[in-house]
Amino acid sequence: MANFATLKLDDKEVTLPVITGSEGEKGIDIGKLRAETGHITFDDGFGNTGSCTSNITYIDGEVGILRYRGYPIEQLAEKSNSVETSYLVTHGELPTSEQRSRFSHLLTQHAPLREGMLRFIQSFPRDAHPMAVLSASINALGAYYPHLASNNHQRDLEHFDEAAAIAISKVRTIAAHSYRVNNGLPFNYPRPNLGYCENFLHLMFSEPYNEYVPTPEVASALNLFLLLHADHEQNCSTSTVRMVASAGANLFASVSAGVNALWGPLHGGANMAVLEMLKNIHDDGDDGTRFIAAAKSGKGDRLMGFGHRVYRNYDPRAKIIKTSFYKALASLNIKDDPLLNIAMKLEEVALSDEYFISRKLYPNVDFYSGLIMRALGIPLNMFTVMFAIGRMPGWVAQWHEVAQNPKLKIYRPRQIYTGATQRNYVPINMR
Ligand code: ACO
Repeated sequence: MANFATLKLDDKEVTLPVITGSEGEKGIDIGKLRAETGHITFDDGFGNTGSCTSNITYIDGEVGILRYRGYPIEQLAEKSNSVETSYLVTHGELPTSEQRSRFSHLLTQHAPLREGMLRFIQSFPRDAHPMAVLSASINALGAYYPHLASNNHQRDLEHFDEAAAIAISKVRTIAAHSYRVNNGLPFNYPRPNLGYCENFLHLMFSEPYNEYVPTPEVASALNLFLLLHADHEQNCSTSTVRMVASAGANLFASVSAGVNALWGPLHGGANMAVLEMLKNIHDDGDDGTRFIAAAKSGKGDRLMGFGHRVYRNYDPRAKIIKTSFYKALASLNIKDDPLLNIAMKLEEVALSDEYFISRKLYPNVDFYSGLIMRALGIPLNMFTVMFAIGRMPGWVAQWHEVAQNPKLKIYRPRQIYTGATQRNYVPINMR
């Protein structure tokens, strides 16, 4: 295998090193290209650009592989849980039982918010979008924990365990409180005796007269949802976190920027789009048949939650979450939900119709996670918030990787300028 690539520019030849990842991925290192040739590379949207080396997540979309720190997602889904996997993602290794207890203890200890934070969240209007509340509140954590937010990576890293636990634990409390604000409800306090997922559901749904106790299947579906979303390498929000971190910013500033990126409908909105599609189909008096025919003809909308840009054969996460979804549904005794009936029809057709099979358009993780959220009673405007709770360990890990890089340089992409060439200022009365 070549260790160098040769680029010919006019009559000049430049030799560029080829770097190889631990799974054999190859990248041409163009770090010296500009200095040697005056050229930069152009890759609109970074679709073909490796922005960093990373030890956290490996994806092979062609084969349908997703691994955190080398562990296949299927093994983690079967044998681990979202809390242990959070530790793995953020710390690089599976915890010993002592490390796992300490991490769980830190999560429990940091679940409640300070009084000032509670007042801050209460001050949002009732119709505040929960993603706005989440992002603002996570950023505000830096004000409450200045020793974790010095904006000096060396100092911030000394307290990494505490900062990571605060981010991972409080994202769930803030998310649930934003739901309570939206619904004009008083906040619930986290319970030290409940696990991560059960506590979140309690914070969301318990009432003074009625404590919310999820079925084990529901808690397990939520646990899997979080575990499956923990990291997904250099997507838009993760790249945002790394970009902000590269300037030396603290963990809370960096991950709140990730929340903002995720808010964009092209990134965090896919599971919401699934439910919106189902609702539109239902409102049109269709059972899915007309919608599918229109999608196949190319004249209608696409089936949301089908196909994936990275996973070309199947989405390994969808395979895992599908079983859990059906179990949660059975435990909740949900049978005749009209949107669910439409969803099942779409699933059945996509798995059996030649159009979908030949194009490898299988249901992706967003299809099932949107349906799980609905079954759990999570409102549509909270779907992206749920994604953010799940992705927090990944963002924390990515921040850590940037912060501890001894050769860190601020991320600074270049551009090809296509605006006006030099011209002279025109006084206002002559324009
Ligand atoms: N429903 C119906 N037809 C589809 C769908 C769909 N969801 N997706 C692709 N097709 C068809 C296209 O019309 C095209 O047909 P043609 O060959 O007859 O022209 C063919 O399949 C290939 O389409 P591409 O756009 O090249 O497929 P690509 O794999 O690049 O797109 C994408 C992937 C964007 C995810 C697409 O499948 C899609 O729009 N899905 C619906 C939206 C969605 O669920 N997105 C969440 C995925 S999250 C993520 O990808 C990061």
